Amino acid sequence: MIAPAKYMEESPELLLRKTILHEGNLVEASFQGFRSEPDHPWKRITIRPVLIKGERHLQFAYFNGKQEIAKNYSGQNAETRLSELLSMPYRSAIVVTTDRTIRVQFSKKGRPIIHLEQHRGTILLDMAHDRPKPGILPENQPPPFLREIGVATADGRIRASQQRKFNQINEFLRLIDETGEVEQIITRPIQVADLGCGSAALTFATYHYLSDIKNLPVVMVGVDAKAHLMERHQDTADRLHWKGMLFTTSQIIDYKPSESPDIVLALHACDTATDEALAQAVRWGSHLIFSAPCCHHHLQAQLASNNPPDPFRPVLRHGILRERLGDLLTDSFRAHILRLLGYRTDVIEFVAGEHTPKNLMIRGIRVDNPAPRVLIEEYRQLKQYWGVTPYLEELLADELDPILAA
Ligand SMILES: C[S@@+](CC[C@H](N)C(=O)[O-])C[C@H]1O[C@@H](n2cnc3c(N)ncnc32)[C@H](O)[C@@H]1O
Repeated sequence: MIAPAKYMEESPELLLRKTILHEGNLVEASFQGFRSEPDHPWKRITIRPVLIKGERHLQFAYFNGKQEIAKNYSGQNAETRLSELLSMPYRSAIVVTTDRTIRVQFSKKGRPIIHLEQHRGTILLDMAHDRPKPGILPENQPPPFLREIGVATADGRIRASQQRKFNQINEFLRLIDETGEVEQIITRPIQVADLGCGSAALTFATYHYLSDIKNLPVVMVGVDAKAHLMERHQDTADRLHWKGMLFTTSQIIDYKPSESPDIVLALHACDTATDEALAQAVRWGSHLIFSAPCCHHHLQAQLASNNPPDPFRPVLRHGILRERLGDLLTDSFRAHILRLLGYRTDVIEFVAGEHTPKNLMIRGIRVDNPAPRVLIEEYRQLKQYWGVTPYLEELLADELDPILAA
């Protein structure tokens, strides 16, 4: 049941304060979408109750986009920290108690919109101090789409053979969620493209995350060269009545979206397909890019045929080491090119997929900063040292040449 704001008498601040401080059934509160200001660089702040020496404390976890700092407070200190947080310019707050969820969203003009949703069952309250972080998808109540894609059984259990897949899905959603950037996208519906979507477990999971968890209107297009897979996934999306989910058969480089995607996923797309996906995302001006590279052959061929820098001969003599060095260099160039083209980029660990030991993720957030001279110089030096030209540079020559010539 959803009760819109007009039926509520309390101000959002009072409601949040009361629920977080005084209701013993708080499970977790999460604040996101902060306008960036120098004295609070937080992307997300979460609060959950913990029992320390038998006393209820509130654990405030401050996440700045890279790391999380957790602090426990009780009594007056907890109230002070909460007042501080409620005075910050956040865009949305979600407070989950054992029996209901409260969502507060601020419009562009700062008008609060409050939704109350009564849970059908009761969520268990776990106040253990060091409990592992819960995944975004609860394992004990897997959402129905997981059944449709074969990850959960008909009676709602994660299949033993799909446990790794389930963990991978949860890990991937966490990597999206922790950026705190989805709320910053103003396009409606949000446009998402998953390039080289393959078995599409992460495509379905991302749609569920945006549409059902974040409550955002979304159009998601899965793109892959394999027509039979695209037909099968479209049937699944239709069975789920997910009207905003479409699949299309295309080469990544040929895919022409009707609207530019705000978010681009390219997960374990083979070899230079990753470069093609990154190039497309940059040209579309996508706000968020999540790319988990797969095999890398293009640069390795150059490393094998060029004269390597002398100190590296012992490394390049061995095929497997040459391959791994090629992987590292390719991904370093990719991340660096995104930086040069206005993306805040990090390279992080992503749990290994079922078919590949590749577990890196390149995550880019478009900030549109001009490329600093020092980064341009670093790029030139890296290329010159190894005597190679990354494929992504070739694909994005129109965008990169003016920067590198500066
Ligand atoms: C290893 S699977 C990964 C699938 C999925 N993204 C995942 O992480 O589970 C790679 C998929 O990319 C597709 N693919 C590779 N190169 C492609 C290209 N250039 N254009 C379209 N699809 C491509 C393949 O057909 C395959 O389904």
